[in-house]
Amino acid sequence: MKIITKIALITSLSTFAYSEVTICFKKNHSDISTLESVKLDGGKCLGVNSQNEMLKQGWTLQNFNIKEGDYLYIFKKDDKNLNVTNKESIESIVEKKIEEKKTEDLTKTLKIEKEKSFSLGKKTYLSKCSSCHGIKANKKVGNSAVLNNMSLDDFLDSLKGYKIGSYDLGNASEMKPYAVGFSSYEMKGIYEYIKNIK
Ligand code: HEC
Repeated sequence: MKIITKIALITSLSTFAYSEVTICFKKNHSDISTLESVKLDGGKCLGVNSQNEMLKQGWTLQNFNIKEGDYLYIFKKDDKNLNVTNKESIESIVEKKIEEKKTEDLTKTLKIEKEKSFSLGKKTYLSKCSSCHGIKANKKVGNSAVLNNMSLDDFLDSLKGYKIGSYDLGNASEMKPYAVGFSSYEMKGIYEYIKNIK
């Protein structure tokens, strides 16, 4: 991962749950002679503390990284409860936090996708299916199963079957017009809705 992406992520985490480790940074800094006195951003430096000020406040500089004029400072405050003693374990905490953040973002995206597909499914079911299969998807039409009892696989298979003309319980011609024109994404949304009708 690029160091700047890492810094951005780390800053958003600001301090670890332990709070005895904090990460600060300075971007695009060219004057090496002021590395210790320049005000640092991020973590507990907050744009007001330099390395010198952090040391005065009892922090020790645990690790220091340079990449193309960007500087990353990792400070640690001694605490017996904290068993972060070397560079490797700090890095593994950082990686873990980054992974957690990625998972969290992904879960959010999936949730939003699911809600979208559910509300599209609801709209479609109520406007195109419920007149025959019932508002609660519990009405029997012809030889069709009650929809809210079907498994997702059976539901998708029969709809695909109607689409290509390979499925018929006796009255497929009646159902076929409603199976065409849906993507499997939309079909899943309809199913999601059917299964959750109260
Ligand atoms: C005009 C009435 C009508 C409408 C509207 C309708 N269906 Fe059907 N549906 C039927 C009939 C009749 C059957 C049974 C067809 C057969 O004999 O194969 C059926 C069968 C099905 C089956 C197969 C059930 C099984 O036992 O395998 C599914 C799934 C299904 N419909 C879903 C839907 C969905 C989803 C919609 C809306 C997009 C919809 N239907 C709209 C009449 C309708």
